[in-house]
Amino acid sequence: MTACMSGQSAMPLSDKKRYISNDMPQHAQNENTSNPHNVQHAAIDAYLGSVSKLRSNFFCKGVDSFLKRIIVGMSGATGQIYGIKLMQHLRSIPDVEIHLIMSEWAKKTLLLETDWTVEKVEQLADQVHPIYDMAASVSSGSFPREGMVVIPCSVKTLSAIAHSYNDNLIVRTADVTLKERKNLILAFRETPLHRGHIRLMSEVSEAGAIITPPVPAFYNNPRSLDDIIDQTVFRIIDLLGLPSEHSRWEGPLFTVIK
Ligand SMILES: Cc1cc2nc3c(=O)[nH]c(=O)nc-3n(C[C@H](O)[C@H](O)[C@H](O)COP(=O)(O)O)c2cc1C
Repeated sequence: MTACMSGQSAMPLSDKKRYISNDMPQHAQNENTSNPHNVQHAAIDAYLGSVSKLRSNFFCKGVDSFLKRIIVGMSGATGQIYGIKLMQHLRSIPDVEIHLIMSEWAKKTLLLETDWTVEKVEQLADQVHPIYDMAASVSSGSFPREGMVVIPCSVKTLSAIAHSYNDNLIVRTADVTLKERKNLILAFRETPLHRGHIRLMSEVSEAGAIITPPVPAFYNNPRSLDDIIDQTVFRIIDLLGLPSEHSRWEGPLFTVIK
């Protein structure tokens, strides 16, 4: 994994700020002070050199192309456990790199309905991106990705994705995933639904997203809540084109007597 992809920046933030704020590097200001034109040219050259060094630090060159990058967006609908379980299973698949974005209400709902802390959930991911960091790697189409799952997906986040209202990183990254024609899977959670919700689902579906509400199946004879949650999560891993332990329906084992 390159330093850039693992979230370690090659240049300390204080240096980035220094260059972004257009300060001349000190060593350039000290050069050849006898001629005022030389001082100016040397300073400009040194400054441009610093800028190009900064650019090469911002843009990753050695991206590991074999890694399958999955972006998990958790928004504030009930069912935070689905996002947790998805990441737990993704971690067992070789060469998968998990990028996590949690909304403010995902974090609050998590605390209201599970025993998990935000820190524990974040430890399941390889890289965590703050919800308002619009400069994060995942918000660019040049960031290679296998796909993105928003799980659980609230009405608000569904609505924002349907309208490309990209004011947070989950929505922006979902929008980019769609425009790059990559897998976008939305575990949309609300019930009952009014016509506006159904229209929003129709819009994102037309744009290329897959909507998979976390609705349990019972043909696999679930014995526990874990079995029910896993069935939904394995189905999503299937949709990502990754190997899962999904028990598939292969037809009845008995003959139906008429
Ligand atoms: C315990 C709890 C459960 C919620 N469940 C849902 C839900 O199932 N679906 C939904 O759309 N919103 C639900 N909400 C409301 C969302 O959290 C709220 O609309 C929030 O603004 C969504 O923002 P986000 O999409 O940026 O996370 C729930 C809120 C709480 C506190």
